[in-house]
Amino acid sequence: MSRLTRRRILGAALLAPVAAGVALRPAQNGGGHEAYFLQLQQALRDAGLFRPTLVIDRAKLDQNIARLREHLPRNKHYRIVAKSLPSLELIRHVRRATGSDRLMSFHQPFLNLIAREVPDAQVLLGKPMPVGAARRFFEHFDARSGFDTARQIEWLVDTPERLAQYRELARARAGEGTAPMRINLELDVGLHRGGLRSAQAVAEAIRSLAAEPSMRFSGFMGYEAHASKMPELLGGPRKALDAAMAFYRQCIDAARSVLGAAYDERSLTLNMGGSSTYELYDESAPCNELAMGSGLVKPTDFDKPTLADHVPACFIATPVLKALDRSDISGLESLTGAMRAWDRNTERAFYLYGGYWHADLVSPPGLQHNLIWGHSTNQELVNGSSKVALEVDDFVFLRPHQSESVFLQFGDIALYDGGRITAAWPVFTPGA
Ligand SMILES: Cc1ncc(COP(=O)(O)O)c(C=O)c1O
Repeated sequence: MSRLTRRRILGAALLAPVAAGVALRPAQNGGGHEAYFLQLQQALRDAGLFRPTLVIDRAKLDQNIARLREHLPRNKHYRIVAKSLPSLELIRHVRRATGSDRLMSFHQPFLNLIAREVPDAQVLLGKPMPVGAARRFFEHFDARSGFDTARQIEWLVDTPERLAQYRELARARAGEGTAPMRINLELDVGLHRGGLRSAQAVAEAIRSLAAEPSMRFSGFMGYEAHASKMPELLGGPRKALDAAMAFYRQCIDAARSVLGAAYDERSLTLNMGGSSTYELYDESAPCNELAMGSGLVKPTDFDKPTLADHVPACFIATPVLKALDRSDISGLESLTGAMRAWDRNTERAFYLYGGYWHADLVSPPGLQHNLIWGHSTNQELVNGSSKVALEVDDFVFLRPHQSESVFLQFGDIALYDGGRITAAWPVFTPGA
């Protein structure tokens, strides 16, 4: 090998890591808020909301409601998933726009709230409550609202054991002269989160309900959230949904054969669906109603192909408390220069009012969490390059991952409508 060739090889060997380093170096990101967020920021300032705030954009919410109305098959009712829209005012808005009086509730204190504040609602429990929670509901229930618990609640039951527990409660209540408790049966249509798994188990449960004067069979609930996540390799969403519906039909057949002439589909609640699947249904589906909630506000967990025509309608807005032109990590101050040379997106440091929510940073673009620093629910550090146009008292916007628990962390929802904050919608309080 000549001396020249050897030198070339040596040069290439030395340069390779440098070239690889340059290729791997994070690109410099960043910018300012686009017009939408600038306007929202101004609206929050005008409303004096200089704190972490959950914002719902009314026009976007209404756009999603319009999509729902278009997609809902004509022979299916719509059921509002209350946990995903956890504010009475928000639920009332959706009720007005959809005409639905059907709610799905998942939490005993919220059920008491609904019975008190929405006395014309028809409620289906979305998960089986411990019988003690059902008992507590009745202890706290105030009949003066006019809500009729026997006619307006369907309790969800998933096993023969729970059915026996509810039978005891129903008998005790019947002894006090109340009408039969309505029992809806949870079916395992493929999600495998519990529920009856065979048509035989369903037939047995219905037989035992038919023999019990203190209870009445009111229908089925079969949730199929697994379908939208099913990879094409395993047949994709369509196959999973078809299998779910096939089992649902078997269960309807079982009910028909047990009840005979007493089987009346119009009096039953045959529930399926959720935000990520409801657009896949048509009139031929065996259910008579579809539930959905989250898709009306579309947090990031619902950025799914099956919900592509819905738009994000909820944001977290929070002020920047401190904007620094360097990002020092305690104990590693001597590395600040090297870190910013490697990743220019650490050039600036912003400390937020709060910040460690189940949420993604969306505006301004180019912000990132600092993995060495970690997270803070009090003052979260986010970094950005010198291209990020953000100063103290500006707002940072995030999108929640989901609505049900994140919405409860900010106090009243700020309703954004026509460029202004026009209302404060109180959220559910989980306690009591
Ligand atoms: C039983 C049941 N039905 C429907 C839904 C759908 O709710 P969403 O549309 O908010 O995803 C859920 C969500 O957890 C559920 O548990």
